[in-house]
Amino acid sequence: MFYETGHRDKTQLPHDPFKAIVAPRPIGWISTRALDGRINLAPYSFFNGFASNPPIVGFSSDGGYKDSATFARESGEFVANLATLWLRDPMNATSAPLARGENEFIHAGLTMAECRLVGAPRVKESPASLECKVVEVVEIKNRAGEWRGHVLTLGEVVGVHIDEAFIRDGRFDIAAAKPLARCGYQDYAVVESVFSLARPKGGGDA
Ligand SMILES: Cc1cc2nc3c(=O)[nH]c(=O)nc-3n(C[C@H](O)[C@H](O)[C@H](O)COP(=O)(O)O)c2cc1C
Repeated sequence: MFYETGHRDKTQLPHDPFKAIVAPRPIGWISTRALDGRINLAPYSFFNGFASNPPIVGFSSDGGYKDSATFARESGEFVANLATLWLRDPMNATSAPLARGENEFIHAGLTMAECRLVGAPRVKESPASLECKVVEVVEIKNRAGEWRGHVLTLGEVVGVHIDEAFIRDGRFDIAAAKPLARCGYQDYAVVESVFSLARPKGGGDA
């Protein structure tokens, strides 16, 4: 099968498989604080790490500047919390379209913990959180140069919180943390086992 984007056979593929192919995607559970103090928390699966030194992460807002992108841009800060299997229901609850600035921590029954270097709170129940300072806000354009409301917010990770219960032999035990990942449709995946594979010499370590 081949189709040009926008011309797929909708009897064969009623739903766009793009997000099932670019999968699994890590979920950045983004907490922010607006300049007037309003708190926000929402999951973003157009999220990833883009550089390691300095460490850079980014999340992309569809449909214009949602609260996370708005608050991150105005404050210059955000926190990316790790969403895990056991946090799936509160994570999902924080995606509800609440009124701007209504605190999703309270809505989802989560605890706000103070950060050290940024004003936004982190999710206390999460095994890892990254404190970030915004380095760039990119209004992503299509090939015709038109902006269709996609905003990529990139941040440098300036502080890392890890629940020490998840440190084993000097490593973050990702299989124990069971991070959630987003697949297409309404599907999710969870990392519960890992394996190691040595790189060829000179193959980098990303
Ligand atoms: C697992 C998951 C992943 C999501 N990923 C994105 C995303 O990458 N981009 C986006 O714009 N919305 C995404 N959403 C929807 C937002 O979380 C939702 O629109 C939310 O209300 C935005 O909140 P905010 O306006 O407080 O930032 C996702 C929702 C879920 C449940």
